Amino acid sequence: MSINNNSKEIVLKDHAFLVSETDEKGIITFASDDFCEVAGYSVEELIGKPHSIVRHPDMPKEAFKSLWETVKKGEVWTGYVKNATKDGNFYWVFATVYPTITSEGKKGYLSCRRKATTSEIEKATILYKTLK
Ligand SMILES: Cc1cc2nc3c(=O)[nH]c(=O)nc-3n(C[C@H](O)[C@H](O)[C@H](O)COP(=O)(O)O)c2cc1C
Repeated sequence: MSINNNSKEIVLKDHAFLVSETDEKGIITFASDDFCEVAGYSVEELIGKPHSIVRHPDMPKEAFKSLWETVKKGEVWTGYVKNATKDGNFYWVFATVYPTITSEGKKGYLSCRRKATTSEIEKATILYKTLK
C-alpha cells in the first residue's frame, strides 16, 4: 500500500458488509468478498498478513490501543476506522470488533464493518485530528 497525493475517498455501497477475522496476534485468517473488493486485495494477498496492511496513517494509534485493550478483555469494541486501499486511496467504516473462536478452534477476533455516514465521517475526522 502507498498513500498517493491524489488520494481519493472510496464511498462504500449502502449495504456493503466488510468482514475480517484475525488470530490472537492480528494476523488475518479470513476476509469477505466485500472487504477484499473495497481494500483492493485478493483474499490470498490478505490471509497471513498483519491487519495493519490496511492501516491508514491518519488513524491515531490510540484508536487501535483501545481496540486491542477492549477485545483482549473479552469485550466488544466499536469505532470509526479510516483504512487505506492497496492503490493508496481510502475508505471509512463503522467497525464492531469482538472475540471469537476461529474455524480452527483457536481464539481470534472478528471485525464486521458497515458504511460510515457522511456526518459520522466528519465527526470522526475532527476527533482523530485532535488525537494525532
Ligand atoms: C479483528 C481485527 C480487525 C482489525 N481491523 C483493522 C482495520 O480494518 N484497519 C486497521 O488499520 N487496523 C485494524 N486492526 C488493528 C490492527 O491489528 C493494528 O493494531 C493497527 O492496524 C495498527 O497497526 P500498528 O500497531 O502496526 O501501527 C484490526 C484488529 C483486529 C483484531
